[in-house]
Amino acid sequence: MAAPGPNSKLLFYVKGIFFALLFITLSVLTIACLRTFSLNVNVGLKLADWEKTKHIGFDLSQRQREELFTNFKEAIRIPTVSYSPTDINATALDEFSRLLRKAFPTVFTSSLVQHEVVADYSHLFWVQGSHPDLVPYMLLAHIDVVPASESDGWEAPPFSAEEIDNFIYGRGTLDDKGCVMGILQALEYLLMKGYAPRRGFYIGLGHDEEVSGLNGAVNIVRLLKQRNVQLSFLLDEGFLVLDGVIKGLNEPAALIGVSEKGMATVKLSVTTPPGHSSMPPRESSIGILAAAVKRLEDNPMPMLFGQGPERDTFEHLAHKFNLPLRFLASNLWLFAPIVGRLLALQPSTDAFSRTTTAVTMFNSGVKVNVLPSVAEAFVNLRIHSAQSLQEVLDLINSKVGDQRVKVELVHGFDPLPVSSYSETSYGYQILKKSILDVFPQLTVAPGLCIANTDSRHYKDLAADIYRFAPIWAKGGDTQRIHGINERISKQNYEDMVGFYFTLIQNCDIKKLPETHSGVHEF
Ligand SMILES: *[C@@H]1O[C@H](CO)[C@@H](O)[C@H](O)[C@H]1NC(C)=O
Ligand SMILES: [Zn+2]
Repeated sequence: MAAPGPNSKLLFYVKGIFFALLFITLSVLTIACLRTFSLNVNVGLKLADWEKTKHIGFDLSQRQREELFTNFKEAIRIPTVSYSPTDINATALDEFSRLLRKAFPTVFTSSLVQHEVVADYSHLFWVQGSHPDLVPYMLLAHIDVVPASESDGWEAPPFSAEEIDNFIYGRGTLDDKGCVMGILQALEYLLMKGYAPRRGFYIGLGHDEEVSGLNGAVNIVRLLKQRNVQLSFLLDEGFLVLDGVIKGLNEPAALIGVSEKGMATVKLSVTTPPGHSSMPPRESSIGILAAAVKRLEDNPMPMLFGQGPERDTFEHLAHKFNLPLRFLASNLWLFAPIVGRLLALQPSTDAFSRTTTAVTMFNSGVKVNVLPSVAEAFVNLRIHSAQSLQEVLDLINSKVGDQRVKVELVHGFDPLPVSSYSETSYGYQILKKSILDVFPQLTVAPGLCIANTDSRHYKDLAADIYRFAPIWAKGGDTQRIHGINERISKQNYEDMVGFYFTLIQNCDIKKLPETHSGVHEF
């Protein structure tokens, strides 16, 4: 037997480190597994003792059901297309105003409702509550739609509202005439049944959302600010019910947008002395600019997955994911970088985890034998919640890294503030309850909207802005929005009316029940 020498001492330390590492790994794995099978931040107030305010049931006669679809189809048939901020269809918008008055006579004659037209084509309604001490809320939707042409391959003409297999086809069925008509149809039926709200509320219908809302939403906001209105919360379009849209998620989920990304449109330009193409310099304005654009594309903005509300989307849905996603989503404290990298594989999911960079225009040159003196490109960036507009601009400058390329901000704004979604957040919990009242099979989670809505103009009026429409989207359906064959099932539209019917009554709840927390955190 040899005497213990330096070798066995080394072995002793290696063994020690090995067992320490093993212990740490096992502990981490144990915690990760415990979280995987117990993390359910979704029970929340479901079992709590809610004040009952839903006294009027949503039961429609056969005649009312027909009337509801007739009204909706008429709305789809009016081509309220916004082509650009200065090119809207005034004739169609006027026709739409007439349709609203015809379809919802009770809304327009009720002594509880004040209606005004704003900026010629937008509509603002105030529905008076019996308890003026309850802070009002607001429902938003927009009347205008993006262009659509039958020749793009529609199964039914885009402004026909034709029915195929119990789906109503047409531009605006998803975005956003279901909300416009659904909200007012629900109010019409409530008022007809003698309903008078406790909590007052506003309804705002913008007419130019698809071209930034600078006339409709902006002027409605101006009016409300003049009147010193403050809102307890605001609901606009944005997220949907996603059924089979998120990979690995077994069940349909309703995402409520609690923030939306910011935006920057940046112009890059290079100016060089003009000249004849027979004696070109080594680098042209086009070449210099192309290289700068390529550097922007090759060096995407940093991955920020886990630093914005998208983190909580995963944690809220974690228990509904398949393994191994369930394991990853339950343990973002450990796996956020891995999940982020998985999301980066597809543009549609990558958008949730970083500021995206899209080169959208590139202009230069006038003649085949003339060196152009100017080349310019436009880059459109959508800014993640964890970054500011200024940080993004600084990064662009450093990525471009060439004094000859001028970088100018054309238009931009910071990401929208993140609205509250805790168990004490009134708007979020009322919304969640209303979703579950109508669709009990859903899981509700907060989400980050990657596109913008009219609601961003309202940020000074409401600290809590939510973006959700009770539209049921299956795989591929999200492409129908602004795409071809936009459609909604008749059942879904009826449920939308039912949802607003329920939501309006739930908003009469004075305050949330005490929390009986179902959260098990490890
Ligand atoms: C504008 O709307 C009217 C219907 O209100 C329609 O007849 C007309 O074709 C529309 N114009 C355009 C350019 O879409
Ligand atoms: Zn929309």
